Amino acid sequence: MARQGQMSKLSSFKLLAIDDDPQNRALISDALSQQGLEVLTASDPEAGFELFLRVRPRGVLVDLNAPEATEMDLLERMVRIDPSVNVILVSDHYSEDSAVEAVQKGACDYLPRPIDFQKLRHRIAGFLAEAEIRQKTLGLDHELVRACQFEGIVSRSPLMLEVFAKIRRVAPHFRTALITGATGTGKELVARALHTLSPALADRFVVCNCSALVESLVESELFGYVKGAFTGASQDKAGLFESADCGVIFLDEIGELSPGAQAKLLRVLQDHKVRRVGSTVSREVDLRIIAATNRDLRTMVREGKFREDLYYRLAVVEIGLPALTNRREDLPLLERYFVEKFAKEYEKPIAGLTRRAQSRMATYPWPGNIRELESVIGNACMMADGKFLDIHELPDRIQAQASDQSPTDEALFSLEEISRRHVMRVLERVGGNKARAAEILGVGRATIYQLLSRMKLEKQGESA
Ligand SMILES: Nc1ncnc2c1ncn2[C@@H]1O[C@H](COP(=O)(O)OP(=O)(O)OP(=O)(O)O)[C@@H](O)[C@H]1O
Ligand SMILES: [Mg+2]
Repeated sequence: MARQGQMSKLSSFKLLAIDDDPQNRALISDALSQQGLEVLTASDPEAGFELFLRVRPRGVLVDLNAPEATEMDLLERMVRIDPSVNVILVSDHYSEDSAVEAVQKGACDYLPRPIDFQKLRHRIAGFLAEAEIRQKTLGLDHELVRACQFEGIVSRSPLMLEVFAKIRRVAPHFRTALITGATGTGKELVARALHTLSPALADRFVVCNCSALVESLVESELFGYVKGAFTGASQDKAGLFESADCGVIFLDEIGELSPGAQAKLLRVLQDHKVRRVGSTVSREVDLRIIAATNRDLRTMVREGKFREDLYYRLAVVEIGLPALTNRREDLPLLERYFVEKFAKEYEKPIAGLTRRAQSRMATYPWPGNIRELESVIGNACMMADGKFLDIHELPDRIQAQASDQSPTDEALFSLEEISRRHVMRVLERVGGNKARAAEILGVGRATIYQLLSRMKLEKQGESA
């Protein structure tokens, strides 16, 4: 009943039926138009593809009494143009291999001929329900992204909410802080948030990348120099500490600081004074120091590679950022955030990722964390020419991930249906290799064949 309701609500859902049999076309129009769908028909692949380009239907039914390659080719062309389209192939020569191939090429289903209309109506009702949920989710994501931002940091994960609370609490008071986390987890973003919410001068955030400091120049870089202090010192120059007076100095990659520089930094932390190279005068500085590292400083201390006293000075406030894999709930939110950002930058009407692309993203381990995610979405947006980013726009390493069908409706499937889908999924993942699939499913190869032929028999039985 609920599904029938959805059908009448979404009467703008267009279904294109490409069928070379005029009787079939009439039958499909009759059977489905009653359900409040707009059914358009075409008699051959080329006319069908043209109509597809013109009306952009949400669903396509392809039933051609033609070689399988023709149907597959048509399927591929349509999916490439609109990855979110729901295509169902109908064929005389149904086989599980073709079904796997069709699903891999982006089909939603592959049915044997003659069409079981009850089943087809059920499938279409499923598309409608899913389209509606997706539409709602897209709207919701947009609202969520806006609601889940803290000083430009997007997250709704409990771990990050704790980080936000900590930033809010310590920003007005801290003198030194240490931000730790793997590469690309947002350490600099957090440092900037700390600065923004602190009483430091708003325009004074000085970045010092410790890994880029040349040992022989560390002192003059950090402390500055006076004219004539060394060859080439033609005029007085303030160092980074002085430039950050009344503001924040961000010591990025602090784990790379040499032992000599560590000692000098410790002195500044203790005395709050700096003296330019070649000068006899020390100046007081009012500094807030934020250090960041993706290395484990405690281990470095144990190994004698980082000064213990410096570590304890810096880590008065320590903020640890979780890896993206430990806050997967942020993935759709961040995807949406970056899609909006790059769609605007490239002036393209990109609404989001297809379900298939989202599934691949969800199973990827993201070693480069949010920086990697940002660059993946940035590149995909640059290449995209449709409304949705599909797997073709993702880098190979992400395309190669297992795809997981959306669980939207799975709660309502029977166990048998879920097993069927799972077997198909595993087969898809292993490129149709039944021996490998049997191994993964923990059954003998014969069982897989039996299962597949039973499925095939059932399909034939249902449609007989
Ligand atoms: N939670 C987030 N919300 C939005 N953008 C984020 C978030 N986290 C990181 N970013 C973005 O990801 C990129 C990497 O973040 P950032 O430079 O702060 O990471 P990092 O930890 O300093 O990385 P690295 O160790 O490689 O220097 C930046 O472009 C930043 O704006
Ligand atoms: Mg950084």
